Amino acid sequence: MSNVVEIDHPVVKRYLSILRDKNTETAAFRRAMSTIGTVLAYQALTDLPLKEYDVETPIKTTTGYKPETEVFVIPILRAGLSLVDGIISFMPDAKVGHIGVYRDEETHEPVNYYHNFPGGLKGAYTLVVDPMLATGGSGSHALKFLKENGADNIRFVSLIAAPEGIERLQNDHPDVPIITAAIDEKLNENAFIVPGLGDAGDRYFGTL
Ligand code: PRP
Repeated sequence: MSNVVEIDHPVVKRYLSILRDKNTETAAFRRAMSTIGTVLAYQALTDLPLKEYDVETPIKTTTGYKPETEVFVIPILRAGLSLVDGIISFMPDAKVGHIGVYRDEETHEPVNYYHNFPGGLKGAYTLVVDPMLATGGSGSHALKFLKENGADNIRFVSLIAAPEGIERLQNDHPDVPIITAAIDEKLNENAFIVPGLGDAGDRYFGTL
């Protein structure tokens, strides 16, 4: 699989185990999501272009760096919100936009219900965020919509990805790299990721 980065780190594996465990309580689930969000942001921003500027240290002037473009973090509502806190704690310059897509539980087809990214996405370094990449329907749908609205430099950030979702995203959007903490085995007959962690949105928001 080209253009896919799966983070391979012992501490990330530990946090993933906490997230997968069905007995993990909401507060611990939220903390683990936040920490992994930071690690995912670290990996997803490795290509961020910088421009130089002068920084005055107490000793002398030296070269400082800041993003050359806007950085936009766009969670796919709802579950995408679970990673935002960790991402923006690492990347404080980022703007946060939103796109609402839910998966119809019977047809599994994505449905758009909200969007908001003030100032536009053209030229911005855009991270589209959703913890679960299952069939890839929601992600592909969101990417198409964001591209139609100007996004031209996107990375897709997910916590857990199924091979089926990766394939779908790579077919539909070969220009979009995928950064994930785990590539799981497969989808089950209900299009849930196996082994996965269940419904990330419900576990994060405590709405099981
Ligand atoms: C889940 C998940 C993704 C989507 C993944 O959201 O957070 O957005 O399903 O499935 P897909 O790759 O097959 O499209 P859900 O519909 O449960 O909504 P929520 O974010 O509001 O919990």
